[in-house]
Amino acid sequence: MKGVRARVLGWGSYLPERIVTNDDLARQGIDTSDDWIVERTGIRRRHIAAAGECTSDLALRAAKRALARAGIGPAEIDLIVLATTTPDNTFPATATKVQAALGMTGGAAFDLQAVCAGFIYALAVANNFIRVGQAETVLVIGAETFSRILDWSDRATCVLFGDGAGALVLGRSDGADGAPGILSTHIHSDGRRYGLLYVDGGPSSTGEAGHVRMKGREVFRLAVTLLAEAAEEALGANALSADDIAWLIPHQANKRIIDATARKLGLGTDRVITTVHEHANTSAASIPLALATAADEGRFERGQILLLEGLGGGFAWGSAVVRW
Ligand code: ACO
Repeated sequence: MKGVRARVLGWGSYLPERIVTNDDLARQGIDTSDDWIVERTGIRRRHIAAAGECTSDLALRAAKRALARAGIGPAEIDLIVLATTTPDNTFPATATKVQAALGMTGGAAFDLQAVCAGFIYALAVANNFIRVGQAETVLVIGAETFSRILDWSDRATCVLFGDGAGALVLGRSDGADGAPGILSTHIHSDGRRYGLLYVDGGPSSTGEAGHVRMKGREVFRLAVTLLAEAAEEALGANALSADDIAWLIPHQANKRIIDATARKLGLGTDRVITTVHEHANTSAASIPLALATAADEGRFERGQILLLEGLGGGFAWGSAVVRW
């Protein structure tokens, strides 16, 4: 991908105050244990939104931090793309709530739904808006209150997820050789996998929000295969090898999926950003949360190549390669 493209100007994240450990879940009557959850998933705790705290509240806090980091005011934003599966309301878009709360009176804002691949999809959309010149500065957010669509009597799913938000401010780069920016995005979906991971409700089917349903083993197996393929595709498109990747920033669903993907690529765990133990799976928020956490810790150096990838219900999956 040559020429004009998006570059990262700022990042931010937000996690609800309340932390729920695996032991807390067991104490609340879920038939599970810290040992089982840690061994199968790597998850130790998750943040859960307070009553009345909505996806837009989380998104707004992450967005404000990203804008402050970028030194950009809301008036300079042309577009907000908010990836979420747990919007405040069926309509209007949660992105428009964030737009209003930021004090933006212009530009456009919409939600994007690709579940755990949502942030990768949002990056692809934002990057392409910038590439064709339809936007200069885009706020890309991944925000979820997944705790609201969990069946707390289903121990096979309710222990896996958490709430949170992450955001990036993207600006325009002229794409000069070696300049920071998004080098590529690839997105995929395969609707035949619908039944492996879905929510059993919605405005047009049951009229209720519904709950997450998942065939965990099959999701696990396919996730490892498809994410490895996505990584190879991203490397090939940029004529890169795994050695060129400074950091893998995968969707944070499960430590074993992350480790297996890194192993297939030949990447050591010291080059993989992992936050799943602290955040659990926050769906569309997980990649920007992991990225912002690592960036806050000063782990990325200018010019380093980051490989982002994610997969979720649909199936929907994809990758982005970013020069920091
Ligand atoms: N605590 C204790 N026992 C449990 C729990 C729990 N929370 N959940 C399930 N079990 C039990 C099951 O009932 C079963 O018991 P049984 O043998 O008596 O029937 C046993 O553990 C094994 O169940 P499986 O579902 O076969 O366990 P598995 O080893 O496959 O692990 C898991 C389940 C962790 C969900 C795994 O399949 C997985 O990680 N899949 C990927 C799913 C995922 O990450 N999805 C996120 C969305 S997709 C994405 O983001 C990539």
